[in-house]
Amino acid sequence: MEKQLLQVPFLDLRAQHDPLRAELLAAIGEVVDRSAFAGGPMVAKFEEDFAAYCRTRAAVGVGSGTEALWLALLAQGIGHGDEVITVPNTFMATAEAISYCGARPVFVDVDEQTYTMDPRQLEGAITPRTRAVIPVHLFGQMADMDPIMETARRHRLMVIEDACQAHGAEYKGRRAGSIGNAGCYSFYPGKNLGAWGEAGAVVTNDQSLAEKIRILRDHGQETKYHHSCIGWNARMDGIQGAILRVKLKGLDRANAARRAHARRYDGLLAGLEHLTVPLAAEYGVHAYHLYVVRVPERDRILQVLTERGIACGIHYPNPIHRQDAYRSLGLGPGSFPVAERCAGEFLSLPMFPELTPAQIETVVRELKAALPPARIPEARVA
Ligand SMILES: Cc1ncc(COP(=O)(O)O)c(C=O)c1O
Repeated sequence: MEKQLLQVPFLDLRAQHDPLRAELLAAIGEVVDRSAFAGGPMVAKFEEDFAAYCRTRAAVGVGSGTEALWLALLAQGIGHGDEVITVPNTFMATAEAISYCGARPVFVDVDEQTYTMDPRQLEGAITPRTRAVIPVHLFGQMADMDPIMETARRHRLMVIEDACQAHGAEYKGRRAGSIGNAGCYSFYPGKNLGAWGEAGAVVTNDQSLAEKIRILRDHGQETKYHHSCIGWNARMDGIQGAILRVKLKGLDRANAARRAHARRYDGLLAGLEHLTVPLAAEYGVHAYHLYVVRVPERDRILQVLTERGIACGIHYPNPIHRQDAYRSLGLGPGSFPVAERCAGEFLSLPMFPELTPAQIETVVRELKAALPPARIPEARVA
């Protein structure tokens, strides 16, 4: 078959960066002029700005979202013999960070509407070994934090928010990462706030926790060559701090554009028999990192759309408990039915701030054409 031209990309980073090019290159120039490549003043300035943005007392820049999760757990003393509860429908890094501390990931299923941790199932997963909970604010929507925090407080558990997909998302007026003991962000290039490489941050209202993470990210050094604990090299690059500081100024505007695109998709896709649009929970503000619909015959539909030049994604095709890496947990099919059902039906449509109404209409037209035919209602007898 003749290859179709790409009609709609999944993400267009070039369109995002072109208008900012001069400002971004000047910011890099400043890092070069100061030779402040590893950590340094540009990272410190970004940390200040990002803490203010998240409405937290502190932000600590690290090398990636994975490191943010890992160090947030380590700094709270979580390790061998401990259990940490999270959800199976997330990116691998959430569980990986738990395992890299030496702790064991324990999963609870997600809510069928929001695709985030089902707070009603949390209590049942708690054991005497449970130390922390990691709710994941998936696709840009925050988990239902009040009941999660209430259960965690009753059992004296730490709460670490995985906010890697939730820059600018809110829950009852509070920003992602500002509710639990700590919140972890990724600035992977495709995120709502993306670096020009790898970067991440931990935000927290707990200054002593922030200080522990600052020490851990720098080889356990409190002062030069005095190592009070065994840490790691997890510093943020100066260039990433400089880039992120420029891009942070446009985050709210970019998120507003994402929300407008989501409303347009919602309107054009409403009422289709074979498609479920994402729910924006009333308790918060969705940041639409991804716009994910549910469809039957997902793999066939994805293939048709790909052939028609519409770039879509699947986030994620296999829940974590079904990954080979976690085979030893012995969690077979049916362990988490909602997460497993979603993994078979999720289809992420193109979503980025620079998407145009015409592109959205093209996606919707092609998607509707690819759906299974609607059942014809039986003719009414007169
Ligand atoms: C939910 C979630 N957690 C953690 C991460 C890890 O972040 P990073 O890729 O910056 O290490 C990601 C990134 O894709 C993510 O989406």
